[in-house]
Amino acid sequence: MPLYEGLGGIGLINEKNITVVFDFGAAYTKAGFAGETGPRVIAKSEVICRETGKTVPVFQAKDDEELRHHLVDFIHKLYFRHLLVNPKDRRVVVVENLLGPSSVRNILAKVLFRHYEVLSVLFVPSHLVSLMTLGVTTGLVVDMGYQETTVVPVYENVPILYTWQALPLGGKAIHSSLNELLLDRALILGEDGKEQRLSAVKQKLSDKVLEDIKVRTCFVTTLERSGRVQSNKYDRSVEPPPPAPSVQYPMSGSSILTIPGTVREMATEVLFEMDEDLLTLPSMILNALRQCPIDTRQALAGNLVFIGGTASVKGMKHRILSEVQALVSSPPFMDLLKLNSFKVHQPPAKDNYVAWLGGAILGGTEAVVLRSLPRDQYILNDTVPDWCNLAYNSKDESDEKSV
Ligand SMILES: Nc1ncnc2c1ncn2[C@@H]1O[C@H](COP(=O)(O)OP(=O)(O)OP(=O)(O)O)[C@@H](O)[C@H]1O
Ligand SMILES: [Mg+2]
Repeated sequence: MPLYEGLGGIGLINEKNITVVFDFGAAYTKAGFAGETGPRVIAKSEVICRETGKTVPVFQAKDDEELRHHLVDFIHKLYFRHLLVNPKDRRVVVVENLLGPSSVRNILAKVLFRHYEVLSVLFVPSHLVSLMTLGVTTGLVVDMGYQETTVVPVYENVPILYTWQALPLGGKAIHSSLNELLLDRALILGEDGKEQRLSAVKQKLSDKVLEDIKVRTCFVTTLERSGRVQSNKYDRSVEPPPPAPSVQYPMSGSSILTIPGTVREMATEVLFEMDEDLLTLPSMILNALRQCPIDTRQALAGNLVFIGGTASVKGMKHRILSEVQALVSSPPFMDLLKLNSFKVHQPPAKDNYVAWLGGAILGGTEAVVLRSLPRDQYILNDTVPDWCNLAYNSKDESDEKSV
């Protein structure tokens, strides 16, 4: 092969038919090609509803038929506006959440096979493939996305599925806490030069503005500072820590929002507030470890992997680690988990597309040929083999004979 043709085909299945990799998320969808180091696009998971003409989240639909329409329109946009390739007869890798509903996966398969006539689809679990980016086989993977945070430990490339944990603690929870705090404490300087409380002007800030404020100004405070703020609430004699500097944020028009330092610091605390059931982000990690076989716990604790966009908030990983270390030496975890060291991996990509990158690595290997579901097989009975379906998971007769 002359070099001027490029090196793209080397080591990959076929340059012309390079596999497409999707990671569909509640807030953002990552799409690109296998064997590349990052997605070509990170698009908002939104479509224009055919009935109302309004922009709505892709996965928010009243029934299966509407979801199918949303997916057809959204995938069309991904292929023809962003990736600029023809879906027909091209392989696809879909990075999916192991805990996601089977109905969504079935509709997605229907759209890809029946509408776009793709050659094959390989569904890969996001927690498992994220480890491929690090080259390790064991890790406790915490996916902190928009809708929820999910924890799945993986030991020697096998997800320990029965120990999964999930809580609605993600970007969405931070946005609603930030909205409340801003309405309560922020001041807005209007075009007329008058300063007033934000709640006097607005009832709710849009998700887009909240996200921008969060990414630009918010951070996760340290365990020690957070403890002093909490103590001050109940006991006024405890001095609160000096607040972080406030920030001037330009809003639409010429009005300026003054975001107090306490709001910047406290908006993310919602992920760490412990309720009566002791359910918070750090306790999810310890609960998952507690349910794992005893001889796997130390290896898992030494290989924590945080993925998902919410893990990128400044100070997040440091805070989770210090909370976990504090929690493991106090009841009820102290007697159950005798763990002494927790370590966090640094993935070779931005947190929000680590899972996509894992799918892109897998999509560049033989697995995409050997393990994918081909269109011919799907067309026979219109179902996707599923690990939780007994029809595909029952013991083979030949297995029984050989025992
Ligand atoms: N650098 C960053 N700093 C802070 N937050 C960020 C950053 N990058 C992304 N986010 C937040 O991460 C969230 C999106 O993360 P991600 O793309 O992993 O979610 P998703 O995959 O769409 O959601 P889910 O996994 O729940 O389906 C958004 O709330 C976004 O605001
Ligand atoms: Mg996600």
